[in-house]
Amino acid sequence: MTRQRVLGIVGSPRRGGNTDILVDAVLDGAKARGASAEKVILSDLDIAPCEACDGCKDRGECITLDAMEELFSRMFASDVWVLGTPVYWWGPSAQFKAFLDRWYSQVQRAEDKARFKGRRIILAIPMGDAEPRTARNVVGMMEDALHYVKAELFATILAPGASDMGDVRRMDDVMSAARRAGEEAVS
Ligand SMILES: Cc1cc2nc3c(=O)[nH]c(=O)nc-3n(C[C@H](O)[C@H](O)[C@H](O)COP(=O)(O)O)c2cc1C
Repeated sequence: MTRQRVLGIVGSPRRGGNTDILVDAVLDGAKARGASAEKVILSDLDIAPCEACDGCKDRGECITLDAMEELFSRMFASDVWVLGTPVYWWGPSAQFKAFLDRWYSQVQRAEDKARFKGRRIILAIPMGDAEPRTARNVVGMMEDALHYVKAELFATILAPGASDMGDVRRMDDVMSAARRAGEEAVS
């Protein structure tokens, strides 16, 4: 098998926070199995929300020229995407939702949409609430979106009870599950 490429995408603005830590754990697992890994923090990038202009329907690409162009290139050059967002108000972070909405420009033409097919996705979702059900809207949104683009939802790492910076580090079972998901996704 050729060397697998893994891209981590962090949807929390809190650098070194729980989402960042979880995504790193997945990437570490993948690297331990010989994959190459890189990571982007969405809040470092200039990513505008979708304007719903439907320009992509005519042009096949988004009319908004910002960091999404380059991010799409990196995504489609990678085999595995580790998508992390904290739960914010029972949904994803605004940064993550803006990122996801921009996928709209990539599903207008069959040949573009086909590029999602077979990508392996690992979700990493911390939340302050102790009840994992709190992540149900984020998980449901991603299950439906990934099914729509025919990407493979490989693993979902939930970290309930992670409220303060770094809380997730103390959750041995969650950290091991994240690392294992990274190992298995590239094996
Ligand atoms: C604006 C905002 C909204 C939040 N809403 C929720 C929520 O609805 N449910 C929940 O369990 N935690 C909620 N939280 C807590 C975060 O999910 C939690 O602190 C998480 O660990 C943050 O991840 P991070 O460290 O990667 O930023 C919210 C936090 C913020 C800042």
